[in-house]
Amino acid sequence: MERMKDLAYYNGRITRIADMMIPAGDRGFYFGDGIYEVAMVFHRKIFALEEHLDRMEGSAAMVRIGLPMPREEIGRLLQELADRVESECQFLYWQITRGTAPRNHLFPAGVDSNLYVYSKPWPGVEMADDYRLVSVKDTRFLNCNVKTLNLLLNVLAAQTAKEQGCQEAVFVRDGIVTEGSHSNVSMIRDGVFITHPADNLILPGVERRHMIAYCGQLGIPVEERAFTLEELKQADEIIMSSTSHPSMRVREIDGTAVGGRSEELVGKLRARYLEEVEKLREK
Ligand code: PDD
Repeated sequence: MERMKDLAYYNGRITRIADMMIPAGDRGFYFGDGIYEVAMVFHRKIFALEEHLDRMEGSAAMVRIGLPMPREEIGRLLQELADRVESECQFLYWQITRGTAPRNHLFPAGVDSNLYVYSKPWPGVEMADDYRLVSVKDTRFLNCNVKTLNLLLNVLAAQTAKEQGCQEAVFVRDGIVTEGSHSNVSMIRDGVFITHPADNLILPGVERRHMIAYCGQLGIPVEERAFTLEELKQADEIIMSSTSHPSMRVREIDGTAVGGRSEELVGKLRARYLEEVEKLREK
């Protein structure tokens, strides 16, 4: 098989990412009317594929978008596409939109949903110890548990962070810290791992879930509860997590030095993550 440097797929067509053309009638273009997932590929195997497919099904059901093919077929297709990319380590993205039709708010009748996938090379596991955060008011809608394409306020928050010399923004709603613009936020305090409950105010991150599981295995107590920005600043450690950046330690929030007092526990969680990545080698 001839492998490609990167690859895009749209409803059966395969090209390089830069060459993919999508019809302007795709409702993702007009309305952001779709949902998406991001997964990592290590050793050319998709990490946590079933969890991403679970969340994909959940997001699609919550916004009433039908899958373009059965879940198992999507899983098989994603792995086939990852097999066709040169790099063993990839950033794999896919989105499902509510079909192609002339612009109209109502659901189009008799139209299949669209599946767009791309995969590009990724340098490897990215972890850092020097994240700076800026806090941003969380004025997003109340269904942040849906992994929707509608990311306007996340985009604005990420840009605000960049312009303030920070790597991530942290959303605060009614005094409560919810999540980052493209990551979940968790903290360690007195040996306890604390993270916002997986309700409608945050995206239920796959990495957040993994960290909770690793804590269970390592005997680290977990509390899923709301906390304030002040509490976050007092934490021993603050970790931002996402699929592509699974463990980013925070050292500054709004210009105040924070965290850095429980490196050992963070190290244990990171080691567990790396063990899981290594397991893919034998799969
Ligand atoms: N972002 N919260 C938000 C708002 C996110 O966009 C993400 C992921 C997460 C973490 O979820 P997970 O651990 O499943 O990646 C939390 C992806 C990576 C993105 O949009 O690129």
